[in-house]
Amino acid sequence: MSQPLSFEQIVDARRSVRKYNSQADFDHNDVEEAIKLATLSPNSSNMQMWAFHRVISEEKRTQLAEICMGQNAAKTANELLVITVTPDKWKQRAEMNANVIRNAFGDRDDDTAKRALKYYEKLIPIIYNNDKIGLRGLGRKLFSAWVGRNKPMVREVTKEDVRVSLHKSAALAAMTFMYAMKNKGYDTCPLEGFDSKRAKKLLGLDNSDQICMIISCGVSTPDGIYSERHRVGAEEVIKTH
Ligand SMILES: Cc1cc2nc3c(=O)[nH]c(=O)nc-3n(C[C@H](O)[C@H](O)[C@H](O)COP(=O)(O)O)c2cc1C
Repeated sequence: MSQPLSFEQIVDARRSVRKYNSQADFDHNDVEEAIKLATLSPNSSNMQMWAFHRVISEEKRTQLAEICMGQNAAKTANELLVITVTPDKWKQRAEMNANVIRNAFGDRDDDTAKRALKYYEKLIPIIYNNDKIGLRGLGRKLFSAWVGRNKPMVREVTKEDVRVSLHKSAALAAMTFMYAMKNKGYDTCPLEGFDSKRAKKLLGLDNSDQICMIISCGVSTPDGIYSERHRVGAEEVIKTH
C-alpha cells in the first residue's frame, strides 16, 4: 500500500485534469465520502446554503458534458459533481441554527445566549430575506452607509452581496472536495464553462438555485494535464501591511 500523502503533497499534486482514464478503478462511494468532508468546510454563519448534485448515470453525464461546452474534462469524467447555492433555504437553515443554540443553551437566559439566538432569529432574516429585484437589499445598503459614517459597519448587504457570500462558502466546499478526492487517489477539474440555464433544467433545480461550480472527477490519463503549472511570483500577490 502506498504511503498517505502529506497535506503539502496533496496541494502540490492536485492539478486540473482534462482527460480521464476510463479503464482506471473508480469507486463512486469515495465521491460520497469526499462530499461529506467538503460539508465540513467553513461557511458563512454556518447556514450551509449549498447542495451537491451527483451526476453518475452515463446518459445524464453525456448530456451534462455537452452543456459543459463539450469540454474533454467533462466528457471523459466518471462522475460530475454540480455544487449549487440555495438562496431560498435561508429560513430553514436559520431555524436549524437557532434550534441548535436553544438545545445547547437549554434554559439559559444570559446575554450570550440571547445574543446568539437573536443572531439567527433577527439579524439573519434581515440579511437573507430578499425580494426579486433586491429592493430590501438597497434599503440595507442605505442603512449600512448611514450607520457606517461613525463606526465600522458591514457594507456587503445587498442581494448581490448575499449571492457572492453564498458562492464564497460553496467554493470553499469545492476546494475541500477536490483535496479530499486527491487524497483518495482521484483527479478533478473545476469548471465554470457551462450553460447554467440548460444545466439547471437538466438537473431539475429550483429557479432560485445557482450553480457555483461543476467538478469533473476521475483518474488522469498520462496526458490528462495539459501544461506545466505556472503561477505569478509570490512578491506579486503577497502584500504585507
Ligand atoms: C472557478 C474555476 C473555474 C474553472 N473553469 C474551468 C473550465 O471551465 N474549464 C477548464 O478546463 N478549467 C477550468 N478551471 C481550471 C483552471 O483553468 C485551473 O485551475 C488553472 O489553469 C490552474 O491550473 P491547476 O488547477 O492545474 O493548478 C477553472 C478553475 C476555477 C477555479
